[in-house]
Amino acid sequence: MINQMAKQLHLTRREFGQSWRACVPDWTSRYTDWCAPSTIQAYEATLIADDSRVDQFFDGNTAALTADEQNGLRLFRGRQTDCTDCHAGAELTLASFSGVGENQGRGGRANDPGFFRTGARPITDDAGLGGVDSFGNPFSRTVALNAGAANTVQGLFKTPGLRNVEFTGPYQHNGGQSTLEQVIDFYSRGGDFPGGGNLGPGIGNKNLSAADKASVVAFLKALSDDRVRYERAPFDHPELCVTVGQQTSSATTLLLDTSSPQFVLSAADRWAGVPAVGKAGSVAPLQTFDELLQGIGADGSRAHSLQDRCSIL
Ligand code: HEC
Repeated sequence: MINQMAKQLHLTRREFGQSWRACVPDWTSRYTDWCAPSTIQAYEATLIADDSRVDQFFDGNTAALTADEQNGLRLFRGRQTDCTDCHAGAELTLASFSGVGENQGRGGRANDPGFFRTGARPITDDAGLGGVDSFGNPFSRTVALNAGAANTVQGLFKTPGLRNVEFTGPYQHNGGQSTLEQVIDFYSRGGDFPGGGNLGPGIGNKNLSAADKASVVAFLKALSDDRVRYERAPFDHPELCVTVGQQTSSATTLLLDTSSPQFVLSAADRWAGVPAVGKAGSVAPLQTFDELLQGIGADGSRAHSLQDRCSIL
């Protein structure tokens, strides 16, 4: 079984064994719930989308980006936008390995690197990193170490990496922007709720021209890795089942979830199957979020119409 699981996860038996042993002292033990997070983490750590056209450009293939995309890259890295104040380095976020390592070395406000306020919503709507978990512990490491710093982390959110971002809309923590064009407009006008303090560096009226905004969007779209777009290894997968809304008995009546006494007031989920894809991937690309909004691909020209039955539940 270990070999099979390791194979499915594209890990060597040794890598898999290490992550398994890390959570189950007797590694012949049965798979347990509390073991799952570390094996899933080990699998996810293999999913690095580092072959986008932007990566190819940095690897020396100057033809990988169009002139417009290169202009977008220049703007993204420059003082006209300040995007890389927060979406820094190859990870496109300070809240990742490089940013965390570097900041911890430096000390100072090192404990929550990569968390910023962009003014997407008022702080009173959602304190973000300024919140506490259900045991009352602060989300913020800065506050855990120094309770007096609580006001400095209100309304801060984690800077996401931007690879494959054309597939991951809607954007921001509240899904408030539907398209990348809207995100750039949002930054260009200096956020929607800049008041209340804590606004991150580089957030201010940038007043980008329409042509510059379009170039930055073109650059963001060049951050997609075709292995992801076509679900090629290591981004292939077994059959997956996803929820696609709720079950109804008529246009106005929801069916209740009877699967557990815990959820008596919830509607029953409706499931769709995403069929298994082998290592060579699909012929049809995944639908981008823009295409979903425009209804492009509903004709089957994009992979996974979500019309398939889930056969494993
Ligand atoms: C002050 C730091 C900061 C700056 C400067 C910044 N960002 Fe962001 N960015 C963030 C944070 C934090 C979020 C998440 C906000 C949220 O969830 O509400 C984000 C979210 C995004 C998203 C949405 C990603 C998603 O999956 O939801 C995109 C796209 C994006 N930024 C692109 C840019 C671009 C392009 C620029 C430059 C014009 C830029 N950012 C400048 C910190 C920053």
